[in-house]
Amino acid sequence: MTENTRSATFDVLIVGCGFMGSALARRLAEQGLRVAAWNRTSARAEALSRYGVTPLHDIDAAVKESDIVVAITATYDHVYAAIGDVTSWDGQLLVNLTSGRPDESDAFADWAAQYGVDVLDGSILNYPRQVGTAEAYFMYSGPPSAWQRAESVLTLLGPSHYIPGAQSVSSDLLQGLCAFLIPALSSFVEAATYLQRRKVPTEQLLHAAGYLAESLQRTLPEVVQALDTGDLASDQASLETFAESVEGSLAAFAAEGLNGRILRATGDALDAARAQGLGELSLYAQTTVM
Ligand SMILES: NC(=O)c1ccc[n+]([C@@H]2O[C@H](COP(=O)([O-])OP(=O)(O)OC[C@H]3O[C@@H](n4cnc5c(N)ncnc54)[C@H](OP(=O)(O)O)[C@@H]3O)[C@@H](O)[C@H]2O)c1
Repeated sequence: MTENTRSATFDVLIVGCGFMGSALARRLAEQGLRVAAWNRTSARAEALSRYGVTPLHDIDAAVKESDIVVAITATYDHVYAAIGDVTSWDGQLLVNLTSGRPDESDAFADWAAQYGVDVLDGSILNYPRQVGTAEAYFMYSGPPSAWQRAESVLTLLGPSHYIPGAQSVSSDLLQGLCAFLIPALSSFVEAATYLQRRKVPTEQLLHAAGYLAESLQRTLPEVVQALDTGDLASDQASLETFAESVEGSLAAFAAEGLNGRILRATGDALDAARAQGLGELSLYAQTTVM
């Protein structure tokens, strides 16, 4: 079910008008597409009518009248709650932008296949306010024919990256990179809490942290290469040196009455690596005990 031979009233139906779904609907309507919206709580779909989006109440009729159906609720369970009983599938393309696990992505594609419907699995790395700007980052995976069909619509939402391969690869990327972004942001909150208690000027804090953020970006390929090649040696800084730095920061935090919970988790990982005799290798050697 690839090429679009349907004649639909709406180019896109947005199912789920929360923060993100509303931003997607507004952007697509603003770009001149015929956009419909359905939401469990109908007021949120109706609120979009002032942006040229048509709110629809009957999900079966809404799907029937649309070419591309974009599901964007909080969880996959909510997607099934919204469209699980729809019987009007007839060549639509289904794009799931609800965050989920890879196994949920595969199961969803299997569920849709029984109606002859292709699924593009998408993941979003940006906030709603960045939709339609160069700061957005959308990732899609699924059949190439499905991407070709939806590409001209989806790229209106912002920079969009189609990843060939497994159906669930965009979910994999999302889950893996959440494990990077969320601890990274949380640890910055922890660091800033300490530094503000110490009354370090905000300008200095942000200047030095900005340098480190750029340095972190330059380091990412080095990490991947070390993991790829298994070459975990370092001629710059040993894991032991990093572990000692963590101990120093934890002591400074404790002196300020902070528990250092986020940093402590990193200290635990480094201690596990030290216990395995990896202290003289690079920081990346902790992959061995993960
Ligand atoms: N917001 C972000 O910055 C961001 C960034 C990247 C990815 N995402 C992803 O985008 C998705 C949506 O996030 P959001 O921020 O838009 O969430 P949200 O504002 O909380 O909206 C949740 C949506 O799910 C619907 N929903 C909840 N329970 C439902 C049910 N049982 N049946 C049908 N619909 C149900 C809600 O409908 P009601 O209005 O009726 O409750 C609402 O439309 C999530 O998977 C999130 O991980 C969000």
